[in-house]
Amino acid sequence: MNIKLLNRLRGVRGGYVAISLLGRDAPTVHRDLDELEAFGFAIERHPVLGAAYRGPALRLCPDQIEEGLTTRRIGRQIAVWSRVSSTNDLAARAGNSLANEGLVVLAEEQTAGRGRRGRSWIAPVGSSLLMSVLIFPAGPLGETGWLTALGSVAVAELVSSYSMARAKIKWPNDVRVDGRKISGILVERRAGAVIGIGLNVNLSTDAFPASLREKVTSIQVLNGAPVDRSELARDLIIRLDSLYSRCLDEGTEFLGKTWENLSEYQGERVRVRTPGVEYQGLLIKLDPVEGVTLENESQLHVHLSAGIVLGIDRMNESAEETHGAAGYPAPRDCLGS
Ligand code: BTN
Repeated sequence: MNIKLLNRLRGVRGGYVAISLLGRDAPTVHRDLDELEAFGFAIERHPVLGAAYRGPALRLCPDQIEEGLTTRRIGRQIAVWSRVSSTNDLAARAGNSLANEGLVVLAEEQTAGRGRRGRSWIAPVGSSLLMSVLIFPAGPLGETGWLTALGSVAVAELVSSYSMARAKIKWPNDVRVDGRKISGILVERRAGAVIGIGLNVNLSTDAFPASLREKVTSIQVLNGAPVDRSELARDLIIRLDSLYSRCLDEGTEFLGKTWENLSEYQGERVRVRTPGVEYQGLLIKLDPVEGVTLENESQLHVHLSAGIVLGIDRMNESAEETHGAAGYPAPRDCLGS
């Protein structure tokens, strides 16, 4: 597909470009425009004025995601599927070869998408980013906590850049805006590490089940309009790669600071849930691997290691078992069939 031609049209923001300016040979230009339209891009043609870009394809476009991508590791191979069990499974399967470092798997639909602690992750077909990245991280970055931080920082920064909102990270793996979940990260370790990301993108409030509406949001809701998911996927890949490369070059210190700065509840009174015991106090420090430091009522610092912290909630708020997209109608129902 001629993505350079597409980008040329996109660059003039809705204006027409003369066919003669799009290529030397008019029939070839029209053939390329036909191909873009057949894929689903909205393009308007005028006998005199030429062609104008009117909107993205509704489905993910692999060529658009890859065009001119110069990432060092993540995104060296990109696979886009219509329907998979779980993108994490596909990425994990590729973990038998180090040559697959940086593989990105995207899908329009998952039939067995999963979240943390045995929950399912169900999103209407074509509504979200369902992405998994396979890497073979060396040293401390191999810790699940660091990889979760890497994914959540990339997503939080992406969401903030696509909306006026300030996205925050809720321990350990949720990205939220004003307390509403927009994304969840699931890191799984087999041969290699897989960072799985589910991000609510083109969903209106009504598209969420009534029971979730107060607790979740999407980029479309924040933005007031749907966005081009291929551009979003490309941007996310670039952010993940840049954070990953920087961690490999410089270590994880900057990631820890960025993650902590983006984390919710700092300096607030919180309840920290651990298996069997709940701790209360002022949240002093958060580290994705070291864990949580609280100051209790006797002004003593209590340290809880990351491995035992199930969740952190603001004091006086009910324990927020943050929801994934779980609870959506099954994909079949979403298609109306
Ligand atoms: C959570 O909030 O519990 C984490 C949800 C992670 C969902 C994503 S969607 C892409 C990838 N494939 C999966 O099966 N899960 C992750």
